[in-house]
Amino acid sequence: MKPPTALTTTSTTPHALFTPPTIKLPRIFRPWQKVNLGPLSVSPMGFGTWAWGNQLLWGYQQSMDTELQQVFNLALDNDINLFDTADSYGTGKLNGQSEKLLGKFINEFQGNTNDVVIATKFAAYPWRVTPNQFVNACKASLDRLQIERIGIAQLHWSTANYAPLQERALWDGLVAMYDKGLVEAVGVSNYGPKQLLKIHDYLKERGVPLSSAQVQFSLLSMGEEQMEMKSVCDSLGVRVIAYSPLGLGMLTGKYTPAKLPRGPRGLLFRQIIPGVESLLISLKEIAETRGKSVPQVAINWCICKGTIPIPGVKSVKQAQENLGALGWKLRPGELTQLEYAARDSSAKMIQNVFQTR
Ligand SMILES: NC(=O)c1ccc[n+]([C@@H]2O[C@H](COP(=O)([O-])OP(=O)(O)OC[C@H]3O[C@@H](n4cnc5c(N)ncnc54)[C@H](OP(=O)(O)O)[C@@H]3O)[C@@H](O)[C@H]2O)c1
Repeated sequence: MKPPTALTTTSTTPHALFTPPTIKLPRIFRPWQKVNLGPLSVSPMGFGTWAWGNQLLWGYQQSMDTELQQVFNLALDNDINLFDTADSYGTGKLNGQSEKLLGKFINEFQGNTNDVVIATKFAAYPWRVTPNQFVNACKASLDRLQIERIGIAQLHWSTANYAPLQERALWDGLVAMYDKGLVEAVGVSNYGPKQLLKIHDYLKERGVPLSSAQVQFSLLSMGEEQMEMKSVCDSLGVRVIAYSPLGLGMLTGKYTPAKLPRGPRGLLFRQIIPGVESLLISLKEIAETRGKSVPQVAINWCICKGTIPIPGVKSVKQAQENLGALGWKLRPGELTQLEYAARDSSAKMIQNVFQTR
């Protein structure tokens, strides 16, 4: 077993002689197994990094980088090896920042990073219409990430809804990256069951296994589409990665109509939270009974449904708390209570505009 992780708190003092106190984090005994995802072995929960570089929605500032590095180190020290990112993450001049930060953190990690799995997503920009353009995009991500191979190369979204002729180019792009050995596995994101079957068969004919499918999946996003998607993926041996498992933060229980986050999230939460009160009450009740926290219960629900959740994390405190979603399981009655409350809610999470059938 590794020794306890020693983390340094983020200091806000400018005093040069100040030595930040060291927090000794107890190393969590690992009562969980890694799971297979195509040819890869990954932790049953990964961390999402959309916020790492996103000022508009997530209030990112470069002053957060020291703590984000601590989050990364904490994850690795606790055997979390899956990190989700995208080549489009990072707003404005910070485009690519999430991949760049991951690259820096991997590079500077004091220990073994061999089993780190970076799942990045390639945007279906309208100008990406040839396999070579995807290969070049992949090489640019590899540069930012400072690694030799991408773990999972995912198509960020399908163009089937608005530019069906481009869709084939995306698929050929994945094939080209895989054939050139730039990526270990390929996946999709925001594909519905019908489109997923099509790409699965197309890739299969070219000898490329489809390993994962990422969808919005949480107690706020558990409609028929998500469940159909899950069963299609199960029948094909494709892993479902659950994005926004905390409903962008609404399922942490920390936001109320009187306490909303700044920016666009606040506008969205104002419309949804009043309609999901009974779900939030059920989450809190179960959390109290089980001696867990609300985010831990919400993430654990995704694991119990057979998905790999990738909660977004912005601080060491959040990362530490979310690690506590592993190593235990909600009971059948608790799952039923949560799902009943979720179905009974008058408000639902809005779906990604790029999600296909
Ligand atoms: N494929 C796609 O199109 C797509 C779309 C969306 C997301 N994703 C991926 O999925 C990942 C996760 O989704 P998400 O970031 O949208 O939303 P999420 O995981 O549902 O929510 C994450 C946010 O909740 C808050 N939070 C997390 N843990 C917490 C805790 N223990 N206590 C209190 N607050 C906590 C943080 O924000 P605050 O502290 O600001 O509240 C955090 O950024 C993303 O980072 C990204 O990698 C993919």
